[in-house]
Amino acid sequence: MASAIGEPEVHRIAVIPGDGIGTEVIAAARQVLDAVTERHGIVLEYEEFDWSCQRYLAEGAMMPADGLDRLRPADAILLGAVGWPGVPDHISLWGLLIPIRRSFRQYVNLRPIRVFEGVASPVRGARPGEVDFVVVRENVEGEYSEIGGRFNRGFPDEQAVQEAVFTRVGVSRIVDYAFSLARTRRSYLTSATKSNGIVHTMPFWDQVVAERAAGFPDVRWDAEHIDALAAKLVLQPDRFDVIVGSNLFGDILSDLAAAVAGSIGIAPSANLDPTRTHPSMFEPVHGSAPDIAGQGVANPLGAVWSAAMMLEHLGHPDAAADVVAAMEACLADPATRTRDLGGAAGTREVTDALLAQLG
Ligand code: NAI
Ligand code: MG
Repeated sequence: MASAIGEPEVHRIAVIPGDGIGTEVIAAARQVLDAVTERHGIVLEYEEFDWSCQRYLAEGAMMPADGLDRLRPADAILLGAVGWPGVPDHISLWGLLIPIRRSFRQYVNLRPIRVFEGVASPVRGARPGEVDFVVVRENVEGEYSEIGGRFNRGFPDEQAVQEAVFTRVGVSRIVDYAFSLARTRRSYLTSATKSNGIVHTMPFWDQVVAERAAGFPDVRWDAEHIDALAAKLVLQPDRFDVIVGSNLFGDILSDLAAAVAGSIGIAPSANLDPTRTHPSMFEPVHGSAPDIAGQGVANPLGAVWSAAMMLEHLGHPDAAADVVAAMEACLADPATRTRDLGGAAGTREVTDALLAQLG
């Protein structure tokens, strides 16, 4: 929001902690945000929503009928995780996350991947400081379309058809976003394709990538088939800078990449509407982790890093950098690593360490 000169800018943040460890990691992220915003003179105004599987069980819906309208005025949405045993995952996903991503045209899904000092990657060649890339996933079209159907149900000749939808507008804008992002980094882009096997949509994707590349002559780029690219992510993760992929390819690559980085507990994500017409949403990659929920052992860093991405999106890169620096310091010290990283610290100790760093 615009403000008078001398007054700090106020950002309205909608917070949806969700289920399980979602509530624990969001509480930690909010404390970190409080500390860093105070230090930088940033004002965040929070509105918290209890939308979750618990709400679904009590009231029959993940969010109220006017839920999207209540989020609309926010400058950003901070989400923990949704999902709980007893509620089918397609209900929690299609009742909350997917409507938010699609209605708010969050066509970019952004997942930074880094191997931090102190985090052991399962990949031998993934050394701290050397692996640092971003997966840019198309988030609203492609393979995850609702077009298709089932035919001759129950008969031997039963059929299922699912259409992938690739539009010139949709591919151009995600590729432009990825090229622009590469420009702010090491100016190298890799496009995930499969035009040798998928003969209509993927050659179209390749064609649009090549067309858009002409507008970014300063960015080096190449295209890799998704199968070979998956292998290279494991064998040479340090060679990548920005990877752009369709909805399905980006989905799979980003989970593979998060695994290469060492723990899903650290991985952050952003669902962006780069036009800023609608609020963007920031959330850790992990789910609600029912197996450890309520024990105080969840790693809060995925949510904290997501909150840092939110600060960056809101125009505060210095504050975001402070948060990431605090994370680095925290991970470098074995005493402040959580169980998923081989440590013994709980959510509280890690949060306290971050707050001390941001002192
Ligand atoms: P999950 O990410 O919740 O858990 C997978 C494993 O990683 C578990 O062993 C868990 O203990 C561990 N883990 C995850 N986050 C951690 C953290 N911050 N610190 C330490 N350990 C962590 O995935 P899972 O078990 O497949 O799904 C559980 C529920 O979460 C399901 O209902 C699923 O639908 C939902 N889910 C929601 C997502 C979202 O809200 N965006 C994303 C993924 C799953
Ligand atoms: Mg996924």
